Amino acid sequence: MLALLVLVNPGDEVIVFDPCFVMYDALAGVAGAKVVYVDTYPDFQVDLDKVAAAMTPRTKVVVFNSPSNPTGAVASRQTVRGLAELAAERDIALISDEIYREFCYDEPFVSPAEFNPHTLVVDGFSKTYGMPGWRVGFAHGPRAVIQEMVKLQQYSFVCAPHPFQWACADALDIDVRPHIAAYRCKRDMVVDALAGDYEIVRPGGAFYVFAKAAWGTATEFVEKAITKYELLIIPGDVFSRRDTHFRISYAADNAVIERGIEAFKRLARDR
Ligand SMILES: Cc1ncc(COP(=O)(O)O)c(C=O)c1O
Repeated sequence: MLALLVLVNPGDEVIVFDPCFVMYDALAGVAGAKVVYVDTYPDFQVDLDKVAAAMTPRTKVVVFNSPSNPTGAVASRQTVRGLAELAAERDIALISDEIYREFCYDEPFVSPAEFNPHTLVVDGFSKTYGMPGWRVGFAHGPRAVIQEMVKLQQYSFVCAPHPFQWACADALDIDVRPHIAAYRCKRDMVVDALAGDYEIVRPGGAFYVFAKAAWGTATEFVEKAITKYELLIIPGDVFSRRDTHFRISYAADNAVIERGIEAFKRLARDR
């Protein structure tokens, strides 16, 4: 929010990828921007030609998120580099939301900041350290932008609660590798079990699977999933201009995931 308020003036354009985390387009709207969507279906990978075509003289910011919520897609090193360089060439700010950076299962995480030092990185403790209700995050990037963000912060939420800051500082000493390995197994468990019944692109990271609804619109499908099967999943139109997919979060105990898988299998045939 702070980053967009600092970087965007009313009427500027902000590029987001479709599907994307719900906040990006909403917050760009709050900042007065026109949101420009770059479609990433069907594999949820960023197509640099589409990004270049979406850029106009009014484009101020590109918001990038890899690994992604809701798709779990992880951009390749080549794509991250290409996007970072494209933003630099066109003098467009790049916000990189790296909150899932530890959750990369197949390839090491790559930040666009490696190729474009003007990248503004936003990050947080919620996902890596399992403290989502605490809402403690941080940002790093160009000094001038951070300084303006600090000004806004001081006149809005002032700071994260002090005890939480101490807890987060301690969390940095925790080795999360066993936790990430367990999540890789959960990813495989869900994808391998459901691939026969659902159209799924194996996600490389985060803890989401963005699957195509087996029948109907995603909204119809999710309604039945919740009311009849007690599956709490999110319809794709929350994240997207399309209502075709739904998001599963596998941040749950394996026993719960197994129950969920059985329910998904029955739901696929229950039109
Ligand atoms: C992509 C992404 N960015 C940012 C956040 C915000 O995290 P928090 O408010 O818990 O720090 C989330 C949480 O769901 C997310 O998925």
